Amino acid sequence: MSQQEEQDSQEQDLEDQLELSTNTREILERHNLRPLWEVEDDFGNTIDDLEADIWKWEDIEAAIDGVEDDVPIADLPPGFQRRVAVPINASFGNAISNTIYVGVQTVSPGETAPSHRHGANALRFTIDGSEDMKTVVAGEEFPMEDNDLVTTPQWEWHDHVNDSDETAAWLDVLDLPLVLDSLNARNTFENHELERQPVTKTQGYWASQYGRGRPDEEAKSDGIPGPFEGIREATPPYRFKWSKMVESLHQRADNDEPDPYDGYSLSYVNPATGSPPLFPTMSFRAQLLQEATDAHFHNATEVFFVVEGEGATHVDGEALEWSERDIFVVPPDATHHHEPDGDESILLGMTDRPVFEAMNFYAEASPSS
Ligand SMILES: [Fe+2]
Ligand SMILES: [Fe+2]
Repeated sequence: MSQQEEQDSQEQDLEDQLELSTNTREILERHNLRPLWEVEDDFGNTIDDLEADIWKWEDIEAAIDGVEDDVPIADLPPGFQRRVAVPINASFGNAISNTIYVGVQTVSPGETAPSHRHGANALRFTIDGSEDMKTVVAGEEFPMEDNDLVTTPQWEWHDHVNDSDETAAWLDVLDLPLVLDSLNARNTFENHELERQPVTKTQGYWASQYGRGRPDEEAKSDGIPGPFEGIREATPPYRFKWSKMVESLHQRADNDEPDPYDGYSLSYVNPATGSPPLFPTMSFRAQLLQEATDAHFHNATEVFFVVEGEGATHVDGEALEWSERDIFVVPPDATHHHEPDGDESILLGMTDRPVFEAMNFYAEASPSS
């Protein structure tokens, strides 16, 4: 008998000894009560464990091109009205993980993804962009050049306007599954009365409020937007230009030691606080890899987008071989390390770690410790 079988058998013996009288059983059932020893095995088993998986860009690209050809945004039913291909984790069914959602969205030349706002936090990481592809957030147009990251925080109006002559594509990242499925809450949602919200601010306005110079009397005293309450400073609308991020990554690589698990890593900060995480629910890193990292594991989920280069991430002995623009997921507690090919690779790392930290529940270790 294996150790597990022995343990199961002992538990069965214990449950047999704890046989309830018919009368007690009836009382429990009538009032929707169950004894703990009969429900505890259900804990943690209502959804399957996440699986490590990878989505190759050539497959994603074929899918988004097909969807773009078949469905104009204007034909989408009222609601989110976003033309997106969504990587689905086989064990979960509607997103890449049960906390973080990613999707690949396209907007054709001349199209607009209409203005709306919602409780879930979101950002855009540009895949194919240009100066004339704009995400409009809270009255300001934010140009989306390749690899720029634009926040569309909780309850801020946002629409996506393509005034260029090329199809634009980007990664949408939201905490939707955390809100809708894990917390079983509503994603409070509202469509704007106009397809495009009025542009009421000049480009650079939000950076002037939250950049390196900012007003003394900060213009954000109204706190967390919408019907929400919070104890942290709200994340503002903001564009992180990739040209600046990649310059800082190389400064790290030229001067500092790499993190053993994440390479030369820079976290995107909440511009309101100057510290990560970017959102209370999700944290983001740009990671420059020049050599293989050490293996570790942690209870937070990690999702990666390959910004540059090729390599593999080894997850519990399985090699996820990646190249530019692939998307992959590392499940909780899976031992993993990155192994870049060539001189240099850059990953966008996304994690639900802030949720664990908010609960004083984050744990991380390496296999030898
Ligand atoms: Fe949205
Ligand atoms: Fe990790």
